[in-house]
Amino acid sequence: MLPTSLRTNTCGELRISDINKIVTLCGWVQKTRKLGGATFIDLRDRYGITQLIFSGEDGNSEILNQEGFSRETVLKVTGLVIERESKNKNLPTGDIEIKLQNVEILNNSITPPFTIEDETDGGDELRMKYRYLDLRRNVVRKNLELRHRIAIETRNYLDKQQFLEVETPVLIKSTPEGARDFVVPSRMNPNQFYALPQSPQTFKQLLMVSGFDRYYQIVKCFRDEDLRADRQPEFTQIDCEMSFVEQEDILQTFEGLIKHLFKTVKGLDIASIPRMSYADAMKYYGNDKPDTRFEMKLIDFNSTTKGKSFKVFDDAETVIAICAKGASEYTRKQLDELTEWVKRPQIGATGLVYARFNIDGTLKSSVDKFYNEEELKKWAEICNAEKGDLILVLAGAEDKTRKAASELRLEMGNRLGLRDKNIFSCLWVIDFPLLEWNEGDPNLLASLAGRWHAKHHPFTSPKPEDIELLNTNPGAVRANAYDIVVNGVEIGGGSIRIHNKDLQAKMFDVLGFSKDDAQKQFGFLMNAFEFGAPPHGGIALGFDRLCSLFGGADSIRDFIAFPKNNSGRDVMIDAPSEISEEQLKELNINIITKK
Ligand code: AMO
Repeated sequence: MLPTSLRTNTCGELRISDINKIVTLCGWVQKTRKLGGATFIDLRDRYGITQLIFSGEDGNSEILNQEGFSRETVLKVTGLVIERESKNKNLPTGDIEIKLQNVEILNNSITPPFTIEDETDGGDELRMKYRYLDLRRNVVRKNLELRHRIAIETRNYLDKQQFLEVETPVLIKSTPEGARDFVVPSRMNPNQFYALPQSPQTFKQLLMVSGFDRYYQIVKCFRDEDLRADRQPEFTQIDCEMSFVEQEDILQTFEGLIKHLFKTVKGLDIASIPRMSYADAMKYYGNDKPDTRFEMKLIDFNSTTKGKSFKVFDDAETVIAICAKGASEYTRKQLDELTEWVKRPQIGATGLVYARFNIDGTLKSSVDKFYNEEELKKWAEICNAEKGDLILVLAGAEDKTRKAASELRLEMGNRLGLRDKNIFSCLWVIDFPLLEWNEGDPNLLASLAGRWHAKHHPFTSPKPEDIELLNTNPGAVRANAYDIVVNGVEIGGGSIRIHNKDLQAKMFDVLGFSKDDAQKQFGFLMNAFEFGAPPHGGIALGFDRLCSLFGGADSIRDFIAFPKNNSGRDVMIDAPSEISEEQLKELNINIITKK
C-alpha cells in the first residue's frame, strides 16, 4: 500500500524481503507478552498482524519501558525489520518482526467488552451493541471485503453489458410489493406519508419508458416483515431492467452475471444453469426453491400404498415418500427422534412411516402389519431404493404434507452431509403462476386476505397464451416470471412486465382494485404506458443473500456492516426510538396512548 504521512507500511505486508528496512506502522494492540527480557506486541490493522519486539537494552523510548500496553491501544511504531528466530507459519508476516526504536501512543482504549479475535467470548447481543469493535475482527471484516468484491465485479460485468447505474428515490409512494411498507411522515404535507421502497420496481419500469434501455442499481430496499436468518428489514438488491427483451434474454444475461461472479470472486466455473418449471419444483421438491445439491426427490406414493387397509394412508389426501440413501441402519432411537422432529408444529406432519431396505436384502417397515415384503419390494422399486437405503413416508393434506416432505428432505440432506457449503448448485425456476390465492398471510396486509394477489408483483406479465384464463381460471395463469435459486436459497427473482395499459388495468381488476384505486395508486405508471412503453423485463438479486452464500454462511447479518437484530432493532444506536413532543407536533402526529 502507498505510504501516508503517519505510516510507511501496513501490518499485513512486510516479508522476509523487507529485512533491514526501517518502517513505521500504525495499528491496534492485539496482545502484549513478556518473555525473558523481551516484550512482544502483536500490532493489528485491517491488513494483518505484525509482531513487534522490544528487548530492553536499546531503550531509546520511555514508553517502551512501561509494563506493556492495554489491548486496543492505538500505536504508531518505528523500527527495524528483522528475521524472526521462531517463525509463525500461520501468519503471512510470520517470518519477520519489528525491532522497536520508537513508539507513540496515538490513542488509548478502555478494556473492550469482548476479545477482538477470531474466536471471541462476546455473545450476539454484545457484539451487536459494539458492532464497530466486532467489525475489527478478521472474520467479520473479511465478509465485508467479500461484499465489496462482489459489488465491484457486479458493476464490472453490468458496465461491460451497457447497463447504466441510475439512482431512484427513497422517499416514495407506497407500492404493493407484497410486504408492509415502512412509512415516513411528511412535515410539509400534514397527515401525508412517504413510503420507503420495497424495491425500485415502478421507477425502473419508468426508466425503460424513458428509453434508458439497460438499468441497474445496487440499492437499499425496505420491507416491514417478520425477520429470519435470510431477511432483514433493510436489505440490498442488485436491481436490473432491460428493454426490447424476452425472458430468454434476461436469463442469458443474468446467468452471465452469476457465472462471472463465481469465476472472479470464487474462482469457480459454473456450468450452464438448468431450468425447472415451478410445477416440477413443487412436485419433486415440494418447494419453489429446491436445493439441487442432492436428489432425494419427493415420490408420489398414493397408488403404491392405498387400499391395503392402513387407514392413515387410505384417508390421506396424499402420500409422499423420500428415499434416504445409505440410511437403512438408522437406529430405532434415531427414527423415533426423526418422528418427533416431523411432528413439530413448524413441520406439521402427524407421523412418520419408514421402511428399511437392509444390507442383507430384507425389507422391514414400521407398518409391517399392513404391507408384506412383496408390497415393500414395490415401495423400493418405485423409490429406486437399493440395499442400505431408508424410505420415509408422510401422509395427510396435500399442501401441508408436501411442505413437510420438503422440510424432511432438507433435514435428511443435512443429516447425511449432502449440503456441503463448498458445492454450489444453481437453478432457474420458471413458469411461476401469475396469481396466488391469499387466505390471510401474516406477512401481507390484512386487506389482501380472501383474494388473489400477485405471486411476484402486479406488474408481471402473464404468458400471452394464458391471458384468456384471467377471466375463467385465474389460478391457472402462468407468468413470464423466474427465480434464480442457489443451494435452496432464492437469490433473485424477476419477470417480463406488462407494458400495455389495458392489460395492466385488467391485472389490477383481477387483484381486486377498483378502477379508482388503481388509478390513484398506479395512474402514473399506466399513464406512462400510453407514451410508447417498450417491451421490458428485469430481475433483482438479493445482494446480501448472494454475499452470505459466497461466504458459506446461513445468516445475511454477518455480511451487513450494521444489521438489525431479530426484533428489527439496531441495538448499537438504539433505534427505533421515541421522538420528542416537539418533533411529533411538527409532524402533526398525535400519540393517543402515551405511557
Ligand atoms: P423480490 O421481492 O423477489 O423481487 O426480491 C428480489 C430478491 O431480494 C431478496 N430479498 C431479501 N433479502 C434480504 N432481506 C429481505 N427482507 C429480502 N426480501 C427479498 C431475495 C429476492 O429474491 N421488484 C422485484 C424484482 C423484479 O421483478 O425485478 C423484487 O423486488 O433474494
